[in-house]
Amino acid sequence: MCEELIEDGRVTVDGEVAELGRRVDTKTQRIEVDGIRVSADADLVYYLLNKPAGVVTTASDTHGRTTVVDLVPGEPRVFSVGRLDADTEGLLLITNDGDLAHRLTHPSFGVDKEYVADVEGSPSRATLAKLRRGLELDDGMTAPAKVSAVGPHVIRLTIHEGRNRQVRRMLDAVGHPVRRLVRTRIGPLVDRSLKPGQWRALSAAEIRALQEAVRKGC
Ligand code: URA
Repeated sequence: MCEELIEDGRVTVDGEVAELGRRVDTKTQRIEVDGIRVSADADLVYYLLNKPAGVVTTASDTHGRTTVVDLVPGEPRVFSVGRLDADTEGLLLITNDGDLAHRLTHPSFGVDKEYVADVEGSPSRATLAKLRRGLELDDGMTAPAKVSAVGPHVIRLTIHEGRNRQVRRMLDAVGHPVRRLVRTRIGPLVDRSLKPGQWRALSAAEIRALQEAVRKGC
């Protein structure tokens, strides 16, 4: 399979078309298939965690609270891609791939993050439209978002910015403070069967889908 890809000229190493039999250093060289970086490096790990409420996303907590890295294997050293508030639950990507993490968190790549929020009161259609169009927060206008009602007090929002407490602040701004917030999707990554506190390694297909998402923004 790998040989076929190389023979078809679809693999590049540091931008040059790869040749069969040529040695490659997977630690220092950048390998791409069809222009998408692939990890041939066994040291790179990618975990999808369902973060429970009360667990912090910082690497260490001065108050002794459990951190997300306490919930996944300790070796190799890993970090979370972006943050979820201590009270927020749901999907969090944890890795040691700095390049992918940087691209996923950079707003210009615009990878979607989907949240389900249980809120106080019942947002009207006009309120949902306001959230959709974008609204003024103290750090500027929010970009247009996808917003839909899931139930009287439950709404689904998809945003691609990663501002601090953004979803909570958007919902505060329209008079519907969040009671519970769960992240249900990061770009192509979804998982309805991971229980809070559980993690799993990403599949090779999911890693490739993520690489593609940061290339295209979706
Ligand atoms: N928006 C929030 O308000 N909190 C999060 O944890 C993530 C997005």
